[in-house]
Amino acid sequence: MRLRNIPRAGSVLAANPEIVVANPKDFIGNWTKIFENNNPLHLEIGIGRGNFIINLAKQNPDINFLGIEKFDSVLLRALEKTIDNPIKNLRLLRYDANNILEIFGNGEIEKIYLNFSDPWERTSQRNKRMTHTNFLKKYEKILTGGGILQYKTDNRKFFEYSLSEFNNFGLRINSLNLDLHENEPTWNIRTEYEEKFAGLGKKIYFCAVSFKKKEKTMEKTIELGKGLGNELRFGMRFEEVKKILGEPSEIENSEVPSADGEDFGDTVAWIYDELGATLYFDEEDEWKLGTIEVDDDDFELGGKKLIGKGIKDVKNILQNMNINDINEEEIEAEEGEDEEVKLRLLFSQEKCLNVWFEDGVCCEIQWSSL
Ligand SMILES: C[S@@+](CC[C@H](N)C(=O)[O-])C[C@H]1O[C@@H](n2cnc3c(N)ncnc32)[C@H](O)[C@@H]1O
Repeated sequence: MRLRNIPRAGSVLAANPEIVVANPKDFIGNWTKIFENNNPLHLEIGIGRGNFIINLAKQNPDINFLGIEKFDSVLLRALEKTIDNPIKNLRLLRYDANNILEIFGNGEIEKIYLNFSDPWERTSQRNKRMTHTNFLKKYEKILTGGGILQYKTDNRKFFEYSLSEFNNFGLRINSLNLDLHENEPTWNIRTEYEEKFAGLGKKIYFCAVSFKKKEKTMEKTIELGKGLGNELRFGMRFEEVKKILGEPSEIENSEVPSADGEDFGDTVAWIYDELGATLYFDEEDEWKLGTIEVDDDDFELGGKKLIGKGIKDVKNILQNMNINDINEEEIEAEEGEDEEVKLRLLFSQEKCLNVWFEDGVCCEIQWSSL
């Protein structure tokens, strides 16, 4: 939502701590304390000017509502709507939803609402979409078993992408509507964006999905030069991998330079969204599993988690593992990539290990057969 910066916004938010929670991290695992009851907790992410959550909270006094918004100046508009008549079962948070695991414990939330989240249309930005697997993993952690995600958008492509992410994640579709306003249900509460798009004659897409408990869990330990956990090994063929991990969520084909950098051979990437891993099979290597890439923060190397850590911490961890040939390089953004994000690479040739950092934070680990 584009709004001009309102310099007083921060101080107005801070002056209303009974509505805008000043220190959300203090309530992790304990949100019932703020509402002084044990009612279920519902969360809207990216509330904008707040019409949806304010009205939902008024209609459902037996449910506690939290609304997260990233920007002060936007949240101020929501606060202004409720400041004269505070709603007992509603609190607002100025917070970045990327960090929700810092403020919610496991299974604390019963339902999450995403209304007209930014579609981030460029493929290179897809991990910013609020329905990307990385977000679904976070929602799964903070939601109760069988918890619900309710989602509305006017953007058909974003809707299709999200349905595919939900499907790959094994979510159950409870309700789906490809034109919510055609026979608009009485329970629907329009958001500010919804009003705007409806006024332009756009269709509104809706769905509600529920999470299930995960069945198969894979050991998330990085075994340098060997593979992943105690099952997946470099040198395995497609069928062997499939027996362990099942069908990949997505398969990508690309061309990569051969070891001598001269010819180009084919590479096939098997992407396992739920696991947070991509497996690479090279034609040059007779289609055997040769490289693994992970971006989920649960993966461990030498008993330590690297994803989310800074360069210095990661270097220390690698040195403590006696990896001594660590080199560091700044990487230029490729065409189509976000040039504002600073990419750095730590690598060890001896261990065939690459550790990637975006703006100084570890975001991806790749390792290959030796
Ligand atoms: C397109 S607007 C939709 C606003 C509102 N839900 C509506 O439908 O009218 C998306 C909103 O999400 C907020 N937002 C984007 N990324 C966010 C994040 N990481 N954490 C919290 N809010 C975010 C934006 O600031 C913006 O207000």
